[in-house]
Amino acid sequence: MCGITAYIGAEPALPFLMQGLSKLEYRGYDSAGVTLVDSSGLFTCKTKGRLKQLEDMLETVPCPQKCGIGHTRWATHGVPSQMNSHPHTNEKNTISLVHNGIIENYLALKEELLKKGYKFKSETDTEIVVHLLDDYYYHEHLSLFEALLKAVHQLQGSFALCIVSTEEPDVIYAAKKESPMVLGRDKSGTMCASDAPALLAYTSEILPLKDGQAVIMKADSLQIFDFDGVPQEEEWIVFPYDVHAAQKGGYDSFMMKEIHEQPSAVRETLRGRFRGEMVYMPEIEKLNLPARGIQRIYYVACGTAYHACVYAVTQISARARCAVSAMPASEFRYGSPYLDEHTLCVFVSQSGETADTIAALKLAKEKGAVTAGVVNVLGSGITRLADATLYTCAGPEISVASTKAYTTQLVLLTCLNIKLADLLDWGVFDQYQLIEDLQKLPEAIEEVLKYEKKIAELAELLRYRQDAYFIGRQLDYPTAMEGALKLKEVSYVHADAYYAGELKHGPIALIEKDSVVIAMATQPKVAAKTVSNIEETIARGARVILITTQQMKADRFEHVLRLPELSDELSAVTGVVLLQMLAYYTASIKGCDIDKPRNLAKSVTVE
Ligand code: G6P
Repeated sequence: MCGITAYIGAEPALPFLMQGLSKLEYRGYDSAGVTLVDSSGLFTCKTKGRLKQLEDMLETVPCPQKCGIGHTRWATHGVPSQMNSHPHTNEKNTISLVHNGIIENYLALKEELLKKGYKFKSETDTEIVVHLLDDYYYHEHLSLFEALLKAVHQLQGSFALCIVSTEEPDVIYAAKKESPMVLGRDKSGTMCASDAPALLAYTSEILPLKDGQAVIMKADSLQIFDFDGVPQEEEWIVFPYDVHAAQKGGYDSFMMKEIHEQPSAVRETLRGRFRGEMVYMPEIEKLNLPARGIQRIYYVACGTAYHACVYAVTQISARARCAVSAMPASEFRYGSPYLDEHTLCVFVSQSGETADTIAALKLAKEKGAVTAGVVNVLGSGITRLADATLYTCAGPEISVASTKAYTTQLVLLTCLNIKLADLLDWGVFDQYQLIEDLQKLPEAIEEVLKYEKKIAELAELLRYRQDAYFIGRQLDYPTAMEGALKLKEVSYVHADAYYAGELKHGPIALIEKDSVVIAMATQPKVAAKTVSNIEETIARGARVILITTQQMKADRFEHVLRLPELSDELSAVTGVVLLQMLAYYTASIKGCDIDKPRNLAKSVTVE
C-alpha cells in the first residue's frame, strides 16, 4: 500500500521524508518520489523501483528546502512507472500532492477536467486531485485550503492526501478519509505519515487523524478541521514502542526477528488478562452482552487474521449455545450476513486499517450489531469504529508476512472465547487448565524455537518443489491454512491446506514421488486419523513432515516434530511457529526477498 511522509520545520525536509519512507517500506511499493518546496519553486524527483534508486538520483542534488512531501506507491490505477508515481503536479508546477487510497469517481471528474482543458500526464486516479485544486485556486480564486475542502467533497472513495504549493511554501495541507494518516511534531517542526514507525525516530507523541479531517501544518503549528472547516480537537496519544522496536535487532530479516519475538509478544498480550482462574476483559464486559440476547457471532477478517478467525470458531463451535461462523471480510461485506442487535461481530486485524475489514465493520454497525475489534495497532481505523477493542500487544510488525500478530490473535481470541462462554453462560469451557497453560505458552514457544536448525534442514525438501500440501483436522486445520499461506507468500512455493479427511477426495491425485506433505496431528480425538492419511501419501511416494504431540506413536515416520505438552487448543500456537520457520528457511535457501514478497502489501487499505 502507498506510504506518505511530509515535513515542515526548521531543518531540511529530505532526511525526514526518506527515513520515513524507508520505515514504511513494509507496506510494499513499486515506485517512490518526493517534492521539496521553497519560495524559488517546486522540485520533484520520482522513479519506478526501490527507494535506493530515488536516493541515488538525489545524491548530487542540494536539497536545503525545509518543506516537502514523500511517497511510496503501490500501483492500483496505472502500471508502475515514473509518470504514474507520486507526487503529482499541476501544469504550472505550483501545486504538488501525494495520495494513498483510491478515488472511485475519478473518471467522471477527469472528463470534466478534460473539458476545461486540463492535460493529464499519468493514468492514475490521483492526478485529478491536483487539477481540481488548480481549478479551484486559479479559476474560482479560493484559498488553497478552501480548494482542498471543496475538492474532498467531490471525491468518492478513500484518500490520505498531502499537498504543498509555491503559492504558500510555508504550509502543508493534508486530508484523510478511510486511508491512514498520523501527525507528529518535535522541536524542529511538524510532520505526518501513513503510519507511526515513520515518525518514531522524531517523536513518540502521535495524533492519529480521523476520517473526515483536514489539517493545516506549519513549522510551528498544526490545526485540524473537519471537511466543513470547523476546528476539531487534537487527540494525542503516546506511542508505546520506541524506534528500536521497529529495527531488525540482529536478525537478517524482520520476519525472523518477529518469529523470535513471539514469546514476549504472547506474554505482553496476556498481561493483566487473568484474575485468578477467570479472564479479565472489562472492554467486553462493558458491552453488556448477556442483556442483549446474543444469538449469533461472526469472526471477520482478511488473510492471516482470517485464519485466526477460523481457529476461534473451530474452538468455540462445540461449546457455543448460538450460531458462530468465520468469514473473510471481502465476502462478509458483499454477502448477506444476518445482522441485527442480537449479533456480535468480532473484527480481527493486525493493522486495524484493512479496507475490507473496515467496510465489514461499518456494515455490521449500520445493521445494529454489537462490534468488537481484535487489533494490534493503537488508534487505527477499526479501534475508532468498534464498540470495544481488545489489543494484541505484538508491537510493530514490519515483515509483510504476519507471524507474531497471528499468534497473539490466537491467544487473545482464546481469552475472548473463554470470556464469552462465561458471560453468555455456556459454562462448558475447561478453562482452568487452559488458563494455566496459556500462561505457560511463552516458554513453550521458546521450546519450539529450538527446532530452528532442524527446520532449516527440512526446508531442503522444498528447495526444488513447486508445491506442498498441508493437512490437518479440527483445530489443526487453521494451522495448516496459515502454514500454507506463509510458505506461498515468502517462498513462492504453491501450497494448499486440506482437511486431512478430504485428501482422498481429490488432492491425493496430485501426490507423487517426493511430493512434500506437512501434517499437523495434535488433536487427540483425530490425530490417529490424520496419521492414517499420511500413510496414504507415503504409499504414493510423499515425503512427510509430521508435527504432533509428545504421546503420539509416530517414530516410524521420517521427520517428526513433537510439540510441548499443553492443552490441545494451544498446539495451534506452538505448531504454527514451526510452519513460520519452515516458510522462512525455504524462502531463504531460494534467495527470496523475505520481508517484501512480490505483489504483496503489509496493509491493504484499498479494496
Ligand atoms: C495483507 C497482509 C497479510 C494480512 C492481511 C490482513 O494481505 O499481507 O499479512 O494478514 O493483509 O491484514 P490486517 O492488518 O487486517 O491483519
